[in-house]
Amino acid sequence: MNHSEAIKEVNRLTNELNYHNHLYYVESNPEISDYDFDMLLKKLQALEGQFPDLADDNSPTKRVGGDITKKFETVVHKYPMLSLSNTYSKEEIEDWFVRLKKQVDGDLEYVCELKYDGVAIGIQYVNGRLKQAVTRGDGSQGENVTNNVKTIRTIPLSLSGDYPDDFEIRGEIFFPLKNFEALNAQRRENEEPEFANPRNTASGTLKMQDSKVVAERGLDCFLYGVYGATGLQSGHFETVQKVADWGFKIPKESLRYIEKKHTLDGVMDFINYWNEERDNLPFQIDGVVIKVNQYHNQEELGFTAKSPRWAIAYKFKAERVETVLNSVVYQVGRTGAITPVAILEPVQLGGTTVKRASLHNADQIQKLGLYLSDSVYVEKGGEIIPKIVGVNTALRKSDAELVEFIEHCPECETELVRREGEVQHYCPNETGCPPQMKGKIEHFIGRKAMDIDGIGTETVDALFEEGLIRNMADLYELTFDQVVDLERMADKSANNLIDGIEASKTKPFEKVLFGLGIRFVGETVAKKLAYSLKSIEALSTATFDELVAVDEIGDKIAMSIQTYFQEEANRELVQRLLSHGLIMEVEEKENASNKFEGLSFVVSGVFNAFSRNELKEIIETNGGKNVGSISSKTSYVVAGDKMGPSKLKKATDLGVTIVSEDEFLALLNK
Ligand code: IVH
Repeated sequence: MNHSEAIKEVNRLTNELNYHNHLYYVESNPEISDYDFDMLLKKLQALEGQFPDLADDNSPTKRVGGDITKKFETVVHKYPMLSLSNTYSKEEIEDWFVRLKKQVDGDLEYVCELKYDGVAIGIQYVNGRLKQAVTRGDGSQGENVTNNVKTIRTIPLSLSGDYPDDFEIRGEIFFPLKNFEALNAQRRENEEPEFANPRNTASGTLKMQDSKVVAERGLDCFLYGVYGATGLQSGHFETVQKVADWGFKIPKESLRYIEKKHTLDGVMDFINYWNEERDNLPFQIDGVVIKVNQYHNQEELGFTAKSPRWAIAYKFKAERVETVLNSVVYQVGRTGAITPVAILEPVQLGGTTVKRASLHNADQIQKLGLYLSDSVYVEKGGEIIPKIVGVNTALRKSDAELVEFIEHCPECETELVRREGEVQHYCPNETGCPPQMKGKIEHFIGRKAMDIDGIGTETVDALFEEGLIRNMADLYELTFDQVVDLERMADKSANNLIDGIEASKTKPFEKVLFGLGIRFVGETVAKKLAYSLKSIEALSTATFDELVAVDEIGDKIAMSIQTYFQEEANRELVQRLLSHGLIMEVEEKENASNKFEGLSFVVSGVFNAFSRNELKEIIETNGGKNVGSISSKTSYVVAGDKMGPSKLKKATDLGVTIVSEDEFLALLNK
């Protein structure tokens, strides 16, 4: 394809991708499959790799991230980002109505909206293209987070319709609860601490350096105001409807996310509805915002130093109830972490019956100064899990017993430890404490590890209770007769289970390594270690320096790996897995072949799955040759992000084939 053909094709793909992105994310009404969408995106990525001058700043390929922001530059807001004054009762809203009526003649229109609990953002569009996105900061200046905001699929990169030349749109970036829960599930699996609340996590995510991580987390955004384009419509409500034509996702009237009202009763109706219904929303809100609709009225009303007089927030009270603390139980996780849980006299809160509340750790219990049978206050705030926020000490019984953190594991009696600098207590009996043993087996069979069909948590429980399994290696010694004897196990399921276990013996080393459940060795780390060190033998004998020399492996991971292999029981487990035929090294076919014999490669740029050196090593172990500069004799240029334009031009001019990282791997596996 020559350059001018490429321009046409890039334009065509860009328009098509923007169109389908809008249908999928904004309209929730896709026309093509995810697969077809990915194929279009890959085509565009490949073309941009080949013709880097055609890679637009607002290309749909920006959605997947990859741009790194080392330091977020400070930007002064063209229009200051004010806040809203808060109210908490009908009386306060009534007072506001009275103040409005004093300043404005005639009837007013009001717009009621949700008060999204996220992070404010101002996004500037020039000539229909997203130019810059800035956080609120201190209200007069914020941080430029454009690269990260571009990964949010509901925010258009380029607009359609009759948009103004230069305007700013403001809104709230938030974490949809489904995505927030998925992120925490993943963190649990990787033994990383979970995030406590969606708002803070959205804020932290927006300031991450690597926009790829932002893209994966799935933030969303609602818009609530347009600046610099007010002449177009008569009021706020009309503007919000209008921006939908430009491609923005707006709050739906059909779901009562936004409504126009004319009276105090109408406004209160909206408030009361959402006070009841807010727990059923797929995102968190902390109140309702009421705005005077007509712009000419807004102008009459003006601003105070901090907030507009034409808008007000009604904040929901954090729902709080009082109930009795019956007892404290202690849960033991897969890693041995001990979590204290308050068992409460059941009580209604936010539409559900609450019977338990997390107490997090020993410090939290101490801070609250809890006694058994205390009357405690329970709140469902920004956090998902209800928590105890205080004690009604006036009701404390004189003979009440102080809650003291346990010293021994409730499951296996082992003395607990609390490592320096950590807030959590742990049971160190990794190989003999039942929930830890079961947890490790469950992790091993999990989808991202060995992905063993026919066996789930309940079966692991049953096998464990029967004394048939104590660790992952025991799975490989199970017989059909043992399994079929379990309750509710038919012949067919028993067969499936045995077959599933057998089939797992073909899983590659990286999956086995992840499955072992070594602390801090998540999926990606396992992959890096597997490809760099190549075998369990090399990994288990690697020195600290050798481990930290591996890309992305730091002190904490290296130490954890060494500790793991110092344990006799772990070494024995690995030996048994080896003896059952599990794959404990990177297989020859992936590692060494003569596939690339006679071919020469230039590797340039920044890559996703591998480092540049790793790619070069793959080339060499497969018979290829790495060369430093491009000539007409070069067979392939493997191009990553940020590859210099002159190199790419040279490759194109000389007609050398340029491949992306994925295409290179496809060549390797062909
Ligand atoms: S209007 C002049 N509308 O609440 C202020 N703000 O306390 C205009 N917020 O910084 C803001 N939902 O981050 C407005 N529907 C909504 C909102 C909303 C959430 C946030 C926003 C603002 C803060 C003010």
